[in-house]
Amino acid sequence: MNIAVLASGRGTNFEAIARAIKKRYVKANLKLLITDKETADVRVRAKKFGIRDIFIDPKQFKSRLEFDKGIVKILRKEKVNLVVLAGFMRVFTPYFVKSFKNKILNIHPTILPAFKGIEGVGRAFKYGCRVTGVTVHFVDEKVDHGPIILQAAVRITEGMSLEELESKVHKLEHKLYPQAVKLFVENKLKVEGRHVKII
Ligand code: GAR
Repeated sequence: MNIAVLASGRGTNFEAIARAIKKRYVKANLKLLITDKETADVRVRAKKFGIRDIFIDPKQFKSRLEFDKGIVKILRKEKVNLVVLAGFMRVFTPYFVKSFKNKILNIHPTILPAFKGIEGVGRAFKYGCRVTGVTVHFVDEKVDHGPIILQAAVRITEGMSLEELESKVHKLEHKLYPQAVKLFVENKLKVEGRHVKII
């Protein structure tokens, strides 16, 4: 199975997946990284793991659809079977989602459907939540919305700082995302409407 990771930022989740594949915890081929930010740190991590990275400049495309078509073309050429979004901060068009139906995973740093969108950890913290967490889900046409694969919780204890919470959430992400990718690669996920059966 060929995997492509799409990321825009630091790339700690990219690294967690790359590590899991290197250790053969996930038995798949991490074919490439695609990024929409030329200076993203994730590109440095890709080099460290010897993984090809492609920067696609959104400014070179006249619309979101054209951009998505450009990415789909690359993914098809590279025979990618699974697309893993790891902090890829763009919203896809239905064209993209349909092209890889139930073959796109995303990670979100809250218990969805709470705190969709950006800065989820900070918003859960400010809201005064006592529990938050991490969600890995299939991507559908709506933002942070598709069928949920795995979720895990983090308790926000008295006096915990936002920085401490962020660190706990990220640690959990790095555990949960490789688990979800492994389940997909081993063909153990069956989508039934909003529900994902782990078989
Ligand atoms: C992760 O916390 C991920 O959950 C979040 O971006 C971060 C990327 O970190 N994604 C979203 O908020 C998507 N809505 P990383 O670049 O270190 O992997």
